[in-house]
Amino acid sequence: MIRVRFDVLTLFPEMYSGYLGQSLLRRAIDRGLVDVQLHNIRDWTRDKHGMVDDRPYGGGPGMVLKVEPTVACVEAVRKMKETPGHLVVLTPSGQRLNQPLVEKLSQQQRLLLLCGRYEGFDQRVIDILQPEEISIGDYVLNGGEVASMVLIDAVVRLIPEVLGDERSSQEDSFSGTDRLLEHAHYTRPREFRGHRVPEILLSGNHPEISRWRHEQSLRRTQQNRSDLLDED
Ligand code: ADE
Repeated sequence: MIRVRFDVLTLFPEMYSGYLGQSLLRRAIDRGLVDVQLHNIRDWTRDKHGMVDDRPYGGGPGMVLKVEPTVACVEAVRKMKETPGHLVVLTPSGQRLNQPLVEKLSQQQRLLLLCGRYEGFDQRVIDILQPEEISIGDYVLNGGEVASMVLIDAVVRLIPEVLGDERSSQEDSFSGTDRLLEHAHYTRPREFRGHRVPEILLSGNHPEISRWRHEQSLRRTQQNRSDLLDED
């Protein structure tokens, strides 16, 4: 059964072929757990030049994505299924994506991901469609496509059947009740260039191992992301 269907609305659908063809996502698609459909906004232009962008009113650099083809594309894609889906626009001016937001999005059966380019969309796209605006971080990408792949990746790994071992997503950094970074991991060999695997991990003493891992998580969080410890 399909758990989440993604409809990606973009000017560059070819950017997704490498990502969709690989490993975990490929397998989730092949197993019928996830569906990703790509739609080219350009296919919804009406003028003969297929113009999707235009110069901004009031002047200034760059181009703005036009309202008519964008709204037409979203409305047509919505009608392709009974459930209209939850519309997300990827934009650096959106709310920042984090694990709780990913968890919330993963409850949706259908997500429409609208990817901007250039200086962004004509504001009327936002006013008319009222999407949830999401940014993946405080930096500017060349478009929403990479951001949408980040969002898909994070949502898909929360589908229980997608990861072989259900526990592995619950133990990720930022998951669970205490939002700490994940502890360090080791595998064979026991020693490499004089660096030994911590003895405790070889002891078989699971309560002690859990305690050690929790301390590691705390230490890592203090070192790399002390802001997480300040949040309540
Ligand atoms: N498009 C450009 N920059 C972006 C960002 N940081 N997040 C989401 N979409 C974007």
